[in-house]
Amino acid sequence: MNKRQILFMLCIAVAVGLLSRCSNRSAAAADPRGNAFADAASCAQCHKAVYDSYASTAHAHSSAVAGGGTVKGNFNAPGNVFHFAGRADVVMEKQGEELFQKVMVDGKEAARYPFDVVFGSGRKAQTFLYWRNEQYFQLPISWFVPADGWANSPGFPADHPKFDRVIPSTCFGCHSSMVKVREEVKGVTITEKFAKREMIAGIDCQRCHGPAAAHVDFHTENPAAKEPHHITLMDTLSRIQRLDACALCHSGLKPLYKPAFTFKPGDKLSDFIIPTVPFPQKPTQLDVHGNQMQLLAASQCFLQSKTMNCSSCHNPHVTERTNMQTFSQRCMTCHEPESPQFCKHTGKPSAVLQQNCIDCHMPALPSGSITLLANRKESPTPDSVRTHLIAVYEELVKKMD
Ligand code: HEC
Ligand code: HEC
Ligand code: HEC
Ligand code: HEC
Ligand code: HEC
Ligand code: HEC
Ligand code: HEC
Repeated sequence: MNKRQILFMLCIAVAVGLLSRCSNRSAAAADPRGNAFADAASCAQCHKAVYDSYASTAHAHSSAVAGGGTVKGNFNAPGNVFHFAGRADVVMEKQGEELFQKVMVDGKEAARYPFDVVFGSGRKAQTFLYWRNEQYFQLPISWFVPADGWANSPGFPADHPKFDRVIPSTCFGCHSSMVKVREEVKGVTITEKFAKREMIAGIDCQRCHGPAAAHVDFHTENPAAKEPHHITLMDTLSRIQRLDACALCHSGLKPLYKPAFTFKPGDKLSDFIIPTVPFPQKPTQLDVHGNQMQLLAASQCFLQSKTMNCSSCHNPHVTERTNMQTFSQRCMTCHEPESPQFCKHTGKPSAVLQQNCIDCHMPALPSGSITLLANRKESPTPDSVRTHLIAVYEELVKKMD
């Protein structure tokens, strides 16, 4: 072969390579997470019912790029002002599509910071980040749903607005599906640098089910196949593996060996979470916020049944919160009425007990770590969280009567 022929052969080879790549990738459009991942929206083609109901869950909205449609708070006077104990006020302002937190000192504008990223679906709270010099910082004012108003962000000073709290990629690891980040090393300090607003917002299907491009490709090419291929079958996971898949994000804030984004169903949580001291803590010392796994694991239901996992009570594709009867039905799969396993409380008829096991045995308790100072209030209001330490709360039940 001469040079030209070789070049020609090479071109053919490259072209064939490209073409076959294209046809392989045609089903699952490119995803910024890489070739193993399918485009997040592609699941809708074959799992429309799950996809549609999932779209309205808290998981799907656990983060967002900031905008009029994603920030829940009030931007109209007079409800758009947060007063600090010192001289400053912060005013929430809308300018076209852009939203700002504007600092006013003695009635004059001193600075303004954009809303770039939203954390929190707004069940209880939303907190906001602004981007500057390739870093994300938390804005001092959050939206606090129980107060239906703006509040000082948790742990922020009460007398002045603070704008220098750096937000690490770990927050995105639990609240989003991807964030563009690189590490800049200078001597011994490592700084995380982010591309502005570059993320896959919310928790998508592949965060729980793992990368699914091969699954999408297979089923697109084999529409007659009814059995799932190239996807982890949830039924084949052990109890621990199922728990770990939720506990990755529901074990509170813990340091990690590797990014939470790389976790796939079936992986071991101990390969991700660095054990911290003191560990384990007493369940009563654990904060109700975020520690669902540890609290549940300390409950007799969990310890004495061989099967209980998060799916015993939660369907992650559907929003079921506040539906106490649905949850109580799930309690009664093990604590059947008229059986010795049923509630021992004699203060109320069985039919009444069956309406709502939850408020007596899994009460909503104040969080010690998440407290927000509401506008013009002296002391902070704690976020209240449903405890997962399932138990008898005698004192609380007495107060309910
Ligand atoms: C071209 C069709 C198609 C697309 C697109 C598709 N799937 Fe599937 N999927 C199937 C079929 C067929 C099954 C087997 C029947 C069933 O369980 O619905 C399945 C089953 C599953 C299962 C069940 C596994 C188990 O435990 O039984 C999961 C999880 C799943 N798909 C996730 C996804 C995700 C995530 C996406 C998007 C990234 C996706 N699928 C896109 C066709 C598809
Ligand atoms: C990638 C991290 C992540 C994983 C994995 C995860 N969660 Fe969550 N979960 C969150 C975050 C973040 C929130 C808070 C969402 C919000 O309101 O902004 C949340 C909220 C919830 C809620 C409250 C929803 C509501 O409507 O009140 C439930 C229940 C829940 N998760 C259960 C589960 C279960 C069960 C699993 C495992 C099948 C799981 N989660 C896996 C991060 C995760
Ligand atoms: C928070 C984690 C989580 C997210 C996010 C999630 N799933 Fe699931 N999914 C599960 C778990 C856990 C099961 C097993 C449920 C069980 O065994 O009760 C499951 C089961 C399934 C199944 C098989 C059985 C069924 O319930 O239909 C399909 C299909 C599925 N998921 C598709 C999806 C799709 C599509 C999305 C995105 C729209 C999605 N899932 C998002 C955790 C999740
Ligand atoms: C280990 C996983 C994890 C990390 C890391 C994490 N969160 Fe969360 N976050 C959760 C879970 C789970 C919930 C909901 C459950 C709860 O409240 O107990 C939540 C709830 C929230 C909420 C309230 C959402 C709502 O609508 O009720 C906000 C706001 C929030 N987180 C912001 C942040 C910020 C900011 C960071 C980084 C400093 C962060 N989170 C880091 C898991 C995490
Ligand atoms: C998977 C089965 C299962 C489910 C679901 C379940 N439990 Fe249990 N639960 C048990 C077992 C087993 C025990 C230990 C034996 C006993 O006390 O009956 C237990 C114990 C208890 C106890 C006694 C706790 C103590 O510290 O002595 C209470 C209270 C309780 N469960 C309430 C509930 C409530 C409320 C729900 C629903 C939110 C629920 N359980 C769901 C299996 C389950
Ligand atoms: C025995 C039943 C049961 C089990 C098992 C269970 N939960 Fe829950 N969970 C509930 C109930 C009931 C609520 C309250 C719903 C409401 O307030 O509307 C709840 C609420 C939550 C919330 C929202 C908390 C809040 O205050 O906003 C999260 C997050 C959550 N569960 C995560 C988990 C995770 C993760 C697991 C597994 C480690 C799990 N749950 C296992 C019954 C259960
Ligand atoms: C009005 C509050 C209330 C409601 C509603 C309620 N319980 Fe109870 N439950 C109690 C109290 C208080 C006790 C302790 C009774 C005693 O020991 O005299 C108890 C005892 C129990 C026990 C036995 C605990 C032990 O020490 O062995 C179980 C199991 C239980 N409840 C499950 C349930 C389930 C399941 C439901 C819903 C179908 C439910 N309870 C509804 C207050 C309540």
